[in-house]
Amino acid sequence: MKSQIADELECVKAKYPAERAALLPALYLAQRKYGWLSAEAMDEVSRELRVPKATVRGVATFYAMYRHKQVGRNVIQLCTNVSCMILGAERLVDIIREKYGVEPGGTSADGRFSLVIMECIGACGTAPAMLVNTDFHESLTQENIVTILEGYR
Ligand code: FES
Repeated sequence: MKSQIADELECVKAKYPAERAALLPALYLAQRKYGWLSAEAMDEVSRELRVPKATVRGVATFYAMYRHKQVGRNVIQLCTNVSCMILGAERLVDIIREKYGVEPGGTSADGRFSLVIMECIGACGTAPAMLVNTDFHESLTQENIVTILEGYR
């Protein structure tokens, strides 16, 4: 049976001198396709790249950007490090918790949002900041964060 990521992976592999060099983008591709990296998804990457399963799992568990449990349709990555904390990020966590019923590290009951608390995401000058999926949002306030999140169904 043909892998669900096979076609896209062919394009990725073509950019690298050796198939195994495409491991990080292949894992990202699998995560984008399935929402997270299950054992089956990692095995699929292993087969497609002809890289040992242990190598794939070792790499996938090393990097924080790969998810190892099911997540909601939208993943909020909210920074609460120093600059963001000083400018009210902890209150934003409370707002997300109250409005959507999602705890840090968890997923809302309706599967709409998962919330991940991040260390600095490089937007200290326009803190507080968050990523929603791959979208970057900065200068967050108690007023605008719900408006932003309501745009994600
Ligand atoms: S501390 Fe939040 S982006 Fe740097």
